[in-house]
Amino acid sequence: MLADSYGRLATDLRVSLTDRCNLRCTYCMPPEGLEWLPKPDLLTDDELLRLIGIGVTRLGITEVRFTGGEPLLRRGLPGLVAGTTALAPRPRTALTTNGIGLARMAPALAEAGLDRVNVSLDTLDPEVFETLARRRRLDDVLDGLAGAARAGLTPVKVNTVLMRDINDAEAAGLLRYCVERGYELRFIEQMPLDAQHGWRRDNMITAEEILGRLEAEFTLEPADGDTRGSAPAELFHVRGVRFPNGEPATVGVIGSVTRPFCGACDRVRLTADGQIRNCLFAREESDLRSLLRGGATDDEIAERWTAAVSAKLPGHGINDPSFLQPSRPMSAIGG
Ligand code: GTP
Ligand code: 5AD
Ligand code: SF4
Repeated sequence: MLADSYGRLATDLRVSLTDRCNLRCTYCMPPEGLEWLPKPDLLTDDELLRLIGIGVTRLGITEVRFTGGEPLLRRGLPGLVAGTTALAPRPRTALTTNGIGLARMAPALAEAGLDRVNVSLDTLDPEVFETLARRRRLDDVLDGLAGAARAGLTPVKVNTVLMRDINDAEAAGLLRYCVERGYELRFIEQMPLDAQHGWRRDNMITAEEILGRLEAEFTLEPADGDTRGSAPAELFHVRGVRFPNGEPATVGVIGSVTRPFCGACDRVRLTADGQIRNCLFAREESDLRSLLRGGATDDEIAERWTAAVSAKLPGHGINDPSFLQPSRPMSAIGG
């Protein structure tokens, strides 16, 4: 088991497959992109599957989420999903993506055993999309969402980062769009993870503000009771509104900064270049790639991985005066 010294168990492995992306969201990357990881540093598909296998069969990982950068840019993705779902006990599998290319890929991913997807969507306005992501690809994202739902990669969840004077007026519109199509929308507080270090606390739209905006148009009722567990999103029912399947409509708020869920965190991350990070905001990484390439046994790898998780700090520290942003941006850590 991957336990830390605060009694938390890491059962959810988030695997970044690439640091590259085909969008340039302003809250993530500069327009010219970043200095990408050199190809030889990236784990191969076989290396990834070996590590995922060790996590699942020896260390108690029960859920595997593929992230990026943009994970759909990784050619071997269906094979990685198939290799992961062939493990025993079979882990749940999910993908966090920007949705571009998902319409085309969704059937093959479902066939390979992928259970569900989370898709980033910050706006429904093509002009705002272009300002925000610096590419004209809104229709591709919307097609991706529809394709995922058609392929049964459900529940389809949508992630929206709200930003002041950019897309904050769209909260209610996004919720209507998602509810009508059966997507579970979650609004996310922006965290200090951008490559440009442009995050400002006083400019962040807080969970409280998000709820205030939604409550101007909808009546929200807490939906999770005691069932939130380790989930980052606080869930609400939208009174009187239903999904197309007749279930009560929900909306989530991920208040990573003002309502941190670190105390219940069950995550551990593997970067595309084979480093274990025990937290999105960890200051240190553990190098599994050099162990792997140096001929280490599964036992030796499991041991280093276990030690990495046991050193996990109690929280992300964003609210501490001494907080320092991680040296790697989110696209290189994995979302
Ligand atoms: P579900 O199991 O579908 O709820 O997945 P998820 O919400 O954990 O995954 P997703 O990749 O969609 O991430 C959504 C948001 O959760 C991200 O934008 C982050 O804001 C937040 N998040 C994900 N992982 C972490 C984490 O380890 N720490 C913190 N503080 N926030 C995280
Ligand atoms: N803070 C919060 N969420 C972010 N994402 C990207 N950058 C940030 C940030 N700085 C979101 C994306 C994606 C998810 C994995 O993380 O919108 O949906
Ligand atoms: Fe790409 Fe995601 Fe970063 Fe946007 S937030 S540039 S979609 S990695």
